[in-house]
Amino acid sequence: MNRVPLLVGARGCVSLEKYVIRGGKKLNGEVVISGAKNAVVAILPAAILCDEPCVIENIPNISDVTIILQILSEMGAKVRMINKTTVEIDPTTLRNVPVPYEKAKRMRASSYFLGTLLGRFHEAHVSMPGGCDLGDRPIDQHLKCFTALGATYYIDGGMVNLSADHLIGNQIYFDKNSVGATINGIIAATKAEGLTIIENAAKEPHVVDLANFLNSMGADILGAGTDVIKIRGVKYLHGTNYSVIPDQIEAGTFMTLAAATRSNILIKNVIPKHLEPITQKLTKIGVTVEQFDDAVRVIGSDNYTSTSVKTQPHPGFPTDMQPQMAAVLTCAKGTSMVTESIFDNRFRYVDELRRMGANISVEGRVAVIEGVDGLKGAPVKATDLRAGAALIVAALSAEGTTEIYDIYHVERGYENMELKLRSLGADIKKVDEPDPAEAEKALRKAL
Ligand code: EPU
Repeated sequence: MNRVPLLVGARGCVSLEKYVIRGGKKLNGEVVISGAKNAVVAILPAAILCDEPCVIENIPNISDVTIILQILSEMGAKVRMINKTTVEIDPTTLRNVPVPYEKAKRMRASSYFLGTLLGRFHEAHVSMPGGCDLGDRPIDQHLKCFTALGATYYIDGGMVNLSADHLIGNQIYFDKNSVGATINGIIAATKAEGLTIIENAAKEPHVVDLANFLNSMGADILGAGTDVIKIRGVKYLHGTNYSVIPDQIEAGTFMTLAAATRSNILIKNVIPKHLEPITQKLTKIGVTVEQFDDAVRVIGSDNYTSTSVKTQPHPGFPTDMQPQMAAVLTCAKGTSMVTESIFDNRFRYVDELRRMGANISVEGRVAVIEGVDGLKGAPVKATDLRAGAALIVAALSAEGTTEIYDIYHVERGYENMELKLRSLGADIKKVDEPDPAEAEKALRKAL
């Protein structure tokens, strides 16, 4: 399993590893995309609802998965890796153990334990979820949904405490289109009594994958992938053997990498339909994208034109691809506009790209990018997962050496990033940095 990053100080995780990338090289070859992070982080907690052991295939080796599997085993589930990408989970021995702050703060998906524990035990105690710092990320829609199903809650000491005598199906209209609340709604309603109808539901591929997983165990969920989802509660979920969909965002990231480095890369194990919004934007600026049944070939060119990108819920341009696309546009001729309409603050990577010579100004939720001739290597830090991916895109296309710090963010969501890149011919190394806290302690002792 992945190494879990070291926890240092009150500010949270500080990675002691960095990527050192020498850019400016063309890449070539094939890359195989792993299972989808945002699907697997919902599917693994949802396995709690199953009344028999279940087998989940195509799970990516990323730190978010490691943490969820740790939480499940600490709760008493039997977790057995059958091979590198397949896990068997026997939740029949599970106890209702609280999910503490140290685990929950490390990922947004910890909120799915609210829905799954409520669904199974009619009671859940989970610390408020963490995850990437993208601005305000409330859970009011999750709570609205649990209360509509008959639960009550209180928040105390940072813990969300939920309980219900019975969960009873209801009609729920989300005021905000939310992936997390839709997933939690589906999960909590799967074993509730009667019919639940979720309106203004999120339509992302991982929402559909979660519903397919639950249906494969005997759940009765209709309409996932549209904005109205109907869930008729069932009493029993049998075991299943389910394979997670390929990661849309990992695939999209490799597409932008191919574009930025003017390379020719075959990206395998993808669902081209999921990549459509990314394909369309890349094609528009001058990238060639060839689609096959389960692969895309991306061929970069020497000149790109500017464009405008606005993030939208699926099937719009995904917010999780916004930083990587912006990194490509830093060197597109003319002025590009990138509008973030999902999160308040998803431009924290802009300062880092500026250090590499990008010309970007940010006004509220809009970034204006004036294309430059090229980027130059610099020391930078990943401020969140997709910001880290954008810096890798920028670093590989830049002249000279870039050092990317805080790569634990990247390892939360990308399996073997440096190995996959090296197999395409990239010059990237993962280097251990001395722990600054330990170095300071040693210095104090020596004085
Ligand atoms: N929102 C509310 N109230 C809620 C829930 C959400 O106001 O109760 C707001 C959020 O503040 C945000 C918007 O609704 O402005 C959308 O949030 P959503 O709930 O859809 O996002 P999420 O479930 O927290 C998931 C992914 C994110 C991805 C977003 C949007 C997981 C674990 N996370 O987050 O993935 O950006 O959907 O597609 O599935 C990533 O992978 O890098 C990542 C951040």
